[in-house]
Amino acid sequence: MKFFVDTADVAAIAELNELGIIDGVTTNPSLILKSGRDITEVTREICAIVDGPVSAEVVALNAPEMIEEGRKLAQIAPNITIKLPLTWEGLKACKTLSGEGHMINVTLCFSANQALLAAKAGASFISPFIGRLDDINLDGMELIQDIRTIYDNYDFTTEILAASIRSVNHVTEAARIGADVMTAPPEVIHKLAQHPLTDKGLDAFMKDWEKTGQKIV
Ligand code: G3P
Repeated sequence: MKFFVDTADVAAIAELNELGIIDGVTTNPSLILKSGRDITEVTREICAIVDGPVSAEVVALNAPEMIEEGRKLAQIAPNITIKLPLTWEGLKACKTLSGEGHMINVTLCFSANQALLAAKAGASFISPFIGRLDDINLDGMELIQDIRTIYDNYDFTTEILAASIRSVNHVTEAARIGADVMTAPPEVIHKLAQHPLTDKGLDAFMKDWEKTGQKIV
């Protein structure tokens, strides 16, 4: 499973990237707002840090303007993935921009039919939003499973990018189902390493080690 980090916080991205566990980055207008940075500047910095795909989202609502914005965002760096919303206009823009050879991440996907359309329009990634479905008492993971089944039935190569990941359990479940990629905030990625039995075991080892009076170096 590929790990993308869902943030425009350059310091957090650099820290995770150094560990070698980050395969890409996703941003959106809300994350750009949170960063307090200019979209072009911050996206360029992120692309210089991470080799893999960096999603940058258009904000136009009609296809011609989405295409214009997408082309402009793609000029920032070769690893830009143009992020488009799953609307009819977004699908039109997806068809055009993917035809030009750009990587496309179709976002705000909440149904299997939407995912099917995105694959047919040439999306490189489809972003089903797990957490936001769970928020309204629907089953986000069921959507990931449905898309996995449908894409496999027809050999679609569009990668399933499990998004709106809010917990470590979301990561495990998405991996179990076979999502190709997950994108999560830095805090969730950090939590993947945590386990109370690890902390408890380490504490016991440290206490016993102290009693030996030894040093390794
Ligand atoms: O990648 C999409 C993600 O940023 C949405 O997450 O937590 O705002 O639903 P959230």
